[in-house]
Amino acid sequence: MIDAKKYTLDNEKALTNNKANNKVYIETYGCQMNVSDSEVVMAILIKEDYQLTELMEEADLLLINTCSIRENAEVRIRGRLGEFRRVKRIRKHAIVGVIGCMAERLKEKLVQQEKLVDIVVGPDAYRDLPNLIAQAEGGQKAINVLLSREETYAEIAPVRYASNGISAFVSIMRGCDNMCSYCVVPFTRGRERSREPKTILSEVQGLLDDGYKEVTLLGQNVDKYKWEKENEETVSFAQLLKLVAKQAPQMRIRFSTSYPQDMTDEVLKIMASHKNICKHIHFPAQSGNSNVLERMKRGYTREWYMSRVESIRRHMPDCAITCDIITGFCDETEEEHQDTLSLMKWAEYDFSYMFKYSERPNTFAHRNMKDNVPEEVKSRRLTEIIDLQHQISREVRQKDIGKIFEILVEGTSKKSEEQMHGRTSQNQTVIFPKGSSKKGDFIKIKITKATQTTIMGEIV
Ligand code: SAH
Ligand code: SF4
Ligand code: F3S
Repeated sequence: MIDAKKYTLDNEKALTNNKANNKVYIETYGCQMNVSDSEVVMAILIKEDYQLTELMEEADLLLINTCSIRENAEVRIRGRLGEFRRVKRIRKHAIVGVIGCMAERLKEKLVQQEKLVDIVVGPDAYRDLPNLIAQAEGGQKAINVLLSREETYAEIAPVRYASNGISAFVSIMRGCDNMCSYCVVPFTRGRERSREPKTILSEVQGLLDDGYKEVTLLGQNVDKYKWEKENEETVSFAQLLKLVAKQAPQMRIRFSTSYPQDMTDEVLKIMASHKNICKHIHFPAQSGNSNVLERMKRGYTREWYMSRVESIRRHMPDCAITCDIITGFCDETEEEHQDTLSLMKWAEYDFSYMFKYSERPNTFAHRNMKDNVPEEVKSRRLTEIIDLQHQISREVRQKDIGKIFEILVEGTSKKSEEQMHGRTSQNQTVIFPKGSSKKGDFIKIKITKATQTTIMGEIV
């Protein structure tokens, strides 16, 4: 999740200075896909002569790119709209736009519920933004939440306004056809579609030319990536991964998210045979119990999931595996919860994102099942899985002490100018004394110490 920068409203001068009507302020919530989309939105707006501002007090257009995945994500966004309201009270001409998943989920309801909102734009309608802004400037509420079967923003070069200049996201597909019973994404992002490989490769080339050192290929289920066109060779995710790895041998390649049902050994073989493809798979299990997985409509069993993890370990013994878990899903019993704990122990995840089940309107689970695990049980189970994951992470990290890893240096550590931070291929952040290293370098680091929160190393 992304934290918005907080800006105070103490600059009265900035608030009333509205010389030019072209300053845009944008906050982004939700997954990496939203971060990537905000970069597309900025590209579209900059073409219209908009300038980015980091101060909401001087903005003429205030955008919030939203997430609907859990109820608390939406609650938080409504809280931020309160902040936007304070600006709008003084900067009356400013236009407020809600874009992204919450815009798609709530549609015109959003302008009814939140009076300050002028425009509502779903994830597939960003090309229409200039037009919608013009309508809003004319005093109308403007809404476009049409979903598309084709839109991939393929030829738009994202403006990486918040980037560290080292790592970038590249969207390779949009939407999701999986329909997991708890999930709102298929409703907010529409049908699954893949982006044309040559546009992906040219975006990667552009990043390479600009000095970027790492790309993360993004999709809700990257294993379903498929480019099919008459008279053209079909390209699978494994093939795309290989094309990207070959195109940019000097760069690190990552991807997210892998789907246990669909991840192939071919992908694992390509990962194993390309040094620049990072040895990390984000591999959400959601639950360790086959009955829960069936209720979740995940399409795999505990045993299948375990066999896929075994295959990852067989192909790449040094590969990090991370997970997402939902606890307290409909009818989840104590035994089913125990199965999740035992899967976590067995899999030895490096890291997990763990969530309490949050019922989302209109999903299959909402329409057909009961959100019947009491709140205090959900909380207790969540605490148990979080505690267990902390313990596992600690143990996994201890094993790294004394080992040498290649690190991509990302910048100066927050705590000290004399220290730098970077990441291993396994996506583990390491802090180390600066030496002569600089941002963007690939260097070898020996791990010296691992605590609950940080891993320390030294240049070798
Ligand atoms: N496409 C990815 C997940 C995208 S959503 C995948 O299938 O793996 C990110 C995570 O949010 C999910 O993996 C899941 O763990 C969590 N999530 C999704 N819907 C949720 C809900 N209704 N309540 C709680 N967590 C949820
Ligand atoms: Fe949601 Fe399932 Fe699609 Fe992931 S794969 S986005 S959890 S429907
Ligand atoms: Fe949220 Fe939409 Fe991503 S619901 S998690 S921003 S796809």
